[in-house]
Amino acid sequence: MYVCNCNGIRERQVRAAIDGGASKPAEVFRAHGCKPQCARCVCEMREMIDQSREALRYAAE
Ligand code: FES
Repeated sequence: MYVCNCNGIRERQVRAAIDGGASKPAEVFRAHGCKPQCARCVCEMREMIDQSREALRYAAE
């Protein structure tokens, strides 16, 4: 499933960028060598980053 239709970034690619250290949407774009265009996907990327942080916090407890 695509998260970013403008740049063709799929959900698994966003997760890979987050796993690689991306902590904000701009870093997800950078990891894939592109820039936001319409920015409609930014909220979903932020949610994925927040979910990843929550999962890590849970795992640390
Ligand atoms: S959907 Fe990601 S920049 Fe447009």
